[in-house]
Amino acid sequence: MRILAISGSLRRGSHNTMLLRAAGELLPPEYELVFWDGLRDVPPYDEDVDAGEAPASVTVLREAIWEADAVLIATPEYNSSIPGALKNALDWASRPIATNVFRNKPVAVIGSSAGMFGAVWAQAELRKVLAAMGARVAEVEVAVGHANEKFDDEGRISDDDVRAQLADAISTLLAELEPARVAA
Ligand SMILES: Cc1cc2nc3c(=O)[nH]c(=O)nc-3n(C[C@H](O)[C@H](O)[C@H](O)COP(=O)(O)O)c2cc1C
Repeated sequence: MRILAISGSLRRGSHNTMLLRAAGELLPPEYELVFWDGLRDVPPYDEDVDAGEAPASVTVLREAIWEADAVLIATPEYNSSIPGALKNALDWASRPIATNVFRNKPVAVIGSSAGMFGAVWAQAELRKVLAAMGARVAEVEVAVGHANEKFDDEGRISDDDVRAQLADAISTLLAELEPARVAA
């Protein structure tokens, strides 16, 4: 079973990317966490371009989502909302709307921010956007505030509460996959 990890941050030392790496270490062995690292390459959404052949970076993204059994997105918060690059990539992924690759896909949203609230507003907006695309948005709660205090120098979680919240979130997301796993 494959879980696709998407970080909403392009920053080298991103705490959201660290959070996703930590999630990978908490997954049971039969699950694989695969990172999509093409965020920087996705062009601004353009309906005219989308009417023709999709840009290669968009095809890679759409295929990565299509092939994943579930998606885990970790987002920072920019000005109380979703970072523009991430929203733009999701807009590409959302077309064509009726058959978009997120439709019925189990997705969990987690996040961290430098401020005290852990990107809660960005996460809420991201869940709304994903639900509008038809994704099955899992009810999880991982909001890592003051992120620079919650990871050690190697980028591992140094806070027990954060580790426990992340483990809970993963269990909830994997539970969404159980019916598919039993059927397979
Ligand atoms: C343009 C911009 C806007 C930001 N707005 C917010 C905000 O509204 N709330 C918040 O908690 N942090 C905000 N921040 C700080 C981010 O939470 C911080 O940069 C965070 O560490 C980014 O996540 P990362 O570590 O994964 O890169 C903002 C940062 C930038 C660059």
